[in-house]
Amino acid sequence: MKKHECALFDLDGVIVDTAKFHFLAWKKIASILNYDLTPIDNEKLKGVSRSDSLDMILKMANKNIETSKFKAYLIQKNLTYLEYIKDINSQDILPGISEALSLLKNKNIKIGLGSASKNAKIILERLGLINYFEVIIDGNKVEKSKPHPQVFLKASSNLGIVPEKCLVFEDSNAGIKSAKAAGMTAVAIGSPEKFSNEDFCYPDFLTLIQNDLDKFF
Ligand code: BG6
Ligand code: MG
Repeated sequence: MKKHECALFDLDGVIVDTAKFHFLAWKKIASILNYDLTPIDNEKLKGVSRSDSLDMILKMANKNIETSKFKAYLIQKNLTYLEYIKDINSQDILPGISEALSLLKNKNIKIGLGSASKNAKIILERLGLINYFEVIIDGNKVEKSKPHPQVFLKASSNLGIVPEKCLVFEDSNAGIKSAKAAGMTAVAIGSPEKFSNEDFCYPDFLTLIQNDLDKFF
């Protein structure tokens, strides 16, 4: 197995189970549009930026809205989401993540975040994990949403590691496509049927660290 020098983590759905809160917050907006957003619809929104997500929901609902309303819905969605995550803390870190981060740190592997979320920093702070990350590329630092590779390419160039030596942990199909388009190794976390071109897939992070984390680094 090729050894990697850098680990790039997605946030929502990999480090913490915030994916369910994004879903609930979008479901409220969709219901205003008379659309019942399903878990299957939601899979397509994972990894996608806030405004691209609203564009996709409008297509699903077959609706057109004015720019002012579009902006208002984005604000409303985020306020609902922030309310859901207001008490988030270290107990919400998904199993295996803290162990993986300290293991990687001990091995001197560079650690970065590649997330579409504009709330990434506050979430990492609340989880008490922010100091593990040498670089944080979030929704405030990219113009192009996953599946575009920009977020992971920026992280690798900031860390000074070539893409081929970077390994990405992702729970969304858009994120896996983004990592592959960046020329990186893509490790999917979740059920294999959700993904199309990942290099490896594990049901959860605990299974990954118990069996294989060492072989990648
Ligand atoms: C991604 C989530 O990490 O961030 C998406 O998977 C979300 O569901 C996107 O829409 C943007 O997040 P935020 O916090 O900026 O609205
Ligand atoms: Mg995710």
